[in-house]
Amino acid sequence: MPDDAVTMDKIVSLCKRRGIIFPASEIYGGIANTYDYGHYGVLLKRNVVDAWWQAMIGDRDDIVALDSAIIQHPRTWEASGHLAGFTDPLVDCRTCGQRFRADHLDAEHDVRCPRKPSVLPGQGPDCNLTEAREFNLMFETTIGPVQEAGSTVYLRPETAQGIFLDFKTVLGFARRKPPFGIAQVGKSFRNEITPGNFIFRTLEFEQMEMEYFVPPDDAHRWYLHWLEARMDWYERLGIRADHLRLRAHEQDELSHYSSATSDVEYLYPIGWQELEGIANRGNFDLTQHAEHSGEKLEYFDQQSGERYVPHVIEPAAGVGRATLALLCDAYDEDDLGGEARTVLKLHPQMAPVKVAVLPLVRKDGQPELAHEVRNLLRRRMQTEYDEGGSIGRRYRRQDEIGTPWCVTIDHQSLEDRTVTVRDRDTLTQDRVAIDELPDVLAGKLAAPWTSPKLAA
Ligand code: GAP
Repeated sequence: MPDDAVTMDKIVSLCKRRGIIFPASEIYGGIANTYDYGHYGVLLKRNVVDAWWQAMIGDRDDIVALDSAIIQHPRTWEASGHLAGFTDPLVDCRTCGQRFRADHLDAEHDVRCPRKPSVLPGQGPDCNLTEAREFNLMFETTIGPVQEAGSTVYLRPETAQGIFLDFKTVLGFARRKPPFGIAQVGKSFRNEITPGNFIFRTLEFEQMEMEYFVPPDDAHRWYLHWLEARMDWYERLGIRADHLRLRAHEQDELSHYSSATSDVEYLYPIGWQELEGIANRGNFDLTQHAEHSGEKLEYFDQQSGERYVPHVIEPAAGVGRATLALLCDAYDEDDLGGEARTVLKLHPQMAPVKVAVLPLVRKDGQPELAHEVRNLLRRRMQTEYDEGGSIGRRYRRQDEIGTPWCVTIDHQSLEDRTVTVRDRDTLTQDRVAIDELPDVLAGKLAAPWTSPKLAA
């Protein structure tokens, strides 16, 4: 179990207090497992997605980007196996009307009957569970105004299938040959009935998926490559290595398409859980779509005269789960001269706001100079101006959203054009000339970083 101050309740309450992430449709009492991201949540999530794109297409030449449709031809899901097999076993309680996952009724999952006494479903005196039924997780909707046969479509439960449908088109213009990848980020939808742990399991969520097409004989080698590359990526986001692990799936856990899968897991406050799945999907998807569509989905190597259906290695990550891991890993509480402080010790590159510019007082020309400093910095990094409340309260506010540096303008700043730079983690305050400030902060932002929680 985790050893630091963080709990899921503390993360939920900090996120709500600072408008990072909060329940959706709250004025109507909320909606199951659905959350909205506020200003700082959007900035944090965008940093996660940008870091993923950087790793996929910025740092490499063998991957191209795609943004495919959420609603695809319904036969997509016949071919992929989702219509027949993307199900959870569910039971209903005839007494309380609640629905539970049949495979989550044990003590380990700690799902509770909503009635008193608080027991596992099926163990209360009045519990009356039905037999388990398979329940498809895809959201159904219809194209056109009339709900008639043939117009039923589905919100995609994964972004991956759009990549397979476009394999031939992309191959045609990308001027790439296996090994090469197609990457995409976008929303997916699953009708999850399990009560989630905050944003860990939601009905709609963003995925960052990459399908890496390789010659069949090279599949295992590339599978191992992506296991390592993806673990490294999470460490580069600043997540502590001892809170990350790779877990290989047992044979009976493997999805219908996979010959090998490993999960990158993070030690959330609720225990070790999946952050990302890395699967060797073989040639299952391209073969299925070729059969169902009648299109040849293969690669012809003009040099060797060889024709083959590429195998696919798929690192599939969730933006919400990575964001939640960052929040949990960064959360800390300390004591500043007898006053409790909550702080997000995020990697500066991940922090929603890099620098806050704070005039000490709201007079004597300090706000004007602070605006000048803010304008100097805003093109270089995400900057915020704040003049409301005592300086201590403003520092606390920035600490809670993880801002690594606060620049304070005081009376001396007006005399000698210097400011103080307060460091979120060390709490040191250095005096820096305004003219040098953008480069000094850019240097700090680019510097190597490890979590200060490791030293604690
Ligand atoms: N294309 C393969 C695929 O979708 P997955 O393991 O079902 O594999 C990949 O999903 C990732 O998407 C997960 O590791 C997780 O990060 C995220 N994810 C899946 N279901 C989710 C949900 N209901 N809520 C939030 N994130 C989810």
